[in-house]
Amino acid sequence: MRIVVGITGGIAAYKAPELVRLLVKAGYEVRCAATEHALEFVTRVTLETVSGAPLYHDLFASGGTEHISLKDWGDMLVVAPATANIIGKVASGIADDALSTLLLAFSGKPVVMAPAMNSLMWAHPAVQRNIATLKSWGIRMVGPAEGELACGTSGVGRMAEPEEIVRSVATLLQHTGTLAGQRWLVTAGPTYERIDSVRFIGNYSSGKMGFALAEALAEAGAEVALVSGPTSLTIDHPRVTLTRVESAREMYAAATSLFPQCRGAILSAAVADYRPATAADHKLKKQGDEGMTLQLVQNPDILATLGGMKQAGQTLVGFALETDHELENAQGKLQRKNLDYIVLNSLRDKGAGFGVDTNKVTILARDGRREESPLMSKREVAELIVKTVAP
Ligand code: C5P
Repeated sequence: MRIVVGITGGIAAYKAPELVRLLVKAGYEVRCAATEHALEFVTRVTLETVSGAPLYHDLFASGGTEHISLKDWGDMLVVAPATANIIGKVASGIADDALSTLLLAFSGKPVVMAPAMNSLMWAHPAVQRNIATLKSWGIRMVGPAEGELACGTSGVGRMAEPEEIVRSVATLLQHTGTLAGQRWLVTAGPTYERIDSVRFIGNYSSGKMGFALAEALAEAGAEVALVSGPTSLTIDHPRVTLTRVESAREMYAAATSLFPQCRGAILSAAVADYRPATAADHKLKKQGDEGMTLQLVQNPDILATLGGMKQAGQTLVGFALETDHELENAQGKLQRKNLDYIVLNSLRDKGAGFGVDTNKVTILARDGRREESPLMSKREVAELIVKTVAP
């Protein structure tokens, strides 16, 4: 595995050679890229000696395309330390030197950043906004840690220790999980069905279960296509690609086009069964005292459609939320929609279902096997589901 270590101009840059040394020791091939300011703290000779390769710091030194060849060479880019400046530049799409240009070129490959700065700078809303933006694009943050800072104060802003950065890199590049090489589809969250330009029909689904499933699948080594309805959740795993949709029909289009390339799919989204027959493109006016009637038409059933598309070797998992005759209804749905497993959400237990962080489920298999979970965190439930449906 090949890693490009990007170094920017913060005092923590003095730890960068140690990071490079540890990565080389762990068996990675390393090349370094540095900003001009980084070279105030650490020298070219040091970085070239520990990495055993020429340093990339001048955009035009060898023809102006080295950012592309270095992007092609590397499996991952680790920026340590990452200053508020580089974080802001990437969030704004600015490419005005070797490292920022490389960072923009690196999209599509995993990028890890270890932010390091004064705690007031870290807390600044601009920095926090930029961090959120980078995370939403899948850039992974390691740290910052809390502790003594170079400016003599203490607080959050210390660069994560090189050992911790190496551990994160190893976890992210690990392709040895039981699901390595498999692609899985997950749907999550609610759908919004437009009534007019400002109103919609929705539901209380938070998307937490689906996001936890995507993470559990990715941690087990799978490449995950996560299709989510409106939610404030974000995910920053390099093996998860998030597609955001709004309506059931958009989710249908995304899921049906992704499913043929997938080893399996887990549909946990709370899809609206009906949508308004027409969506006004302006705000509807009050209709007087008579009340108003909204005509609804049925949405496509994504799960049943995937059940019809399913080929030998593909696994399809649905969710069910039943109020009565739970097991019979879930079993009936499993047969009707051609599923391999159905996850029955308990509505009886406090702490299970919409919005909360915990859940309690029963997993029914096509062959009649049944697995019941205690009340656990959604992350633990997700791991149990993944272990059951993709052993
Ligand atoms: O039939 P019911 O809506 O109860 O089935 C729930 C399951 O079907 C969930 O897995 C949900 O994600 C999926 N579903 C779907 N498309 C719909 C309705 C439900 O994929 N239009």
